[in-house]
Amino acid sequence: MAERPKSVSAWLNTRLPIISVFRREYIEFAMPRNLNYLWNFGAFAVVSLMLLVLSGIFLAFNYTPTIADAFSSVETIDRQVASGWLVRAIHMGGVSMLFAALYVHIARSLYYGSYKAPRELVWLTGLGLLLLVMITAFAGYVLPWGQMSYWGATVVINAVNTVPLIGKPFASWLLGGEGLGNIALHRFFVLHFVTAFSIIGVIALHVATLHVTGSNNPTGKELTRSHQTVPFHPYYTTKDGLGLCLFLMVYAGLIFFAPDFLTLADNYVQANSLVTPADITPEWYFAPFYAILRAVPSKLGGLVLATGSIAVLFATPWLDASGVRSARSRPLLRVALPALFLAFIVLGIAGLHSPNGVWLWSSRIAVTYWYFYFLGLLPFVARRENSDNLNGAGE
Ligand code: HEM
Repeated sequence: MAERPKSVSAWLNTRLPIISVFRREYIEFAMPRNLNYLWNFGAFAVVSLMLLVLSGIFLAFNYTPTIADAFSSVETIDRQVASGWLVRAIHMGGVSMLFAALYVHIARSLYYGSYKAPRELVWLTGLGLLLLVMITAFAGYVLPWGQMSYWGATVVINAVNTVPLIGKPFASWLLGGEGLGNIALHRFFVLHFVTAFSIIGVIALHVATLHVTGSNNPTGKELTRSHQTVPFHPYYTTKDGLGLCLFLMVYAGLIFFAPDFLTLADNYVQANSLVTPADITPEWYFAPFYAILRAVPSKLGGLVLATGSIAVLFATPWLDASGVRSARSRPLLRVALPALFLAFIVLGIAGLHSPNGVWLWSSRIAVTYWYFYFLGLLPFVARRENSDNLNGAGE
């Protein structure tokens, strides 16, 4: 006769080993012992995404995806639905917190060379997540049907229309017609939560690829000896927990003390296709790409540059041929990378201003540096580092 399992969890685990898999991947999993607080930002992204999905479900209960009622249904959520203002503030603030966490997460990965072999798939699935988050945020921003929702989306659609041959057919296929109307709004609503839920699946893939290789660390050297690693629990559950408390405090500060700090007043005016706002400004997290879009006079040129600025990230693991991983051991990168981060910030500020004079020129310089870093500096520096024979400082 088969032996009786000792507990319900043992019974379950012999049939579906989720408990032992969880124990292996999230409790006993060997982590480098020297990770700094920049390794908290992946967990911050996970938590902000969970809060976004949860609050989004409650918003969807009361939202109406028609151009006649979308704006007023959002006003009703803000003013009449019990705690609706709170749910909406969590959702809107959450987008900014997610993007902030993601930009630091990417900067950390660039600085410590986490994109390099053998973690290319972690990097690529991460970029897949970035694209999905961007699409979700873009579709979501159209939903309240305010002036900026309408005109922001119109700018993007006009840019897509400039793509030869496929631009116009693609835009009208997506929108279900020539411009933004009821069909388009309905589709953006569906797209918004379909992409949002698919992000959850891709996060699982992202973390699974990370668990094949294990985490990188500030030195960039692979830590293989047992005294160089600690189990994920309790060491990183507490460290992530502490970081999360601080992250949630900033998030709560945004929700309770400055819910409109990052939003644009124009989006509290219902969309009107006959009145163009004086300045069409994106949310801060899209501003760097918007600045690139407007850095050159040609619309198509701007679109190519903006999409190319993300495309080069996909090629980064192969553009950087250096055997050295962490910028800590790469003197030139220690200067060139902070300059890249500065260029991104300059682009972000430029994207929030009219494309004239100093803002136009600073965005042109910044985007030139962006491309120079990935297509010129990285391959060039990598060659020199190899020939200088840094004795595998990163390995
Ligand atoms: C919703 C979006 C994302 C979530 C929830 C997420 C989550 C995580 C988590 C939990 C980790 C492990 C902890 C850590 O290293 O911080 C991680 C690691 C990593 N992520 Fe992401 N990530 C996201 C997007 C991205 C993006 C956009 C990139 C890069 C383009 C990226 C690249 C990486 C890399 C390279 C690692 C390994 C880091 C290392 O071991 O040094 N991730 N991610």
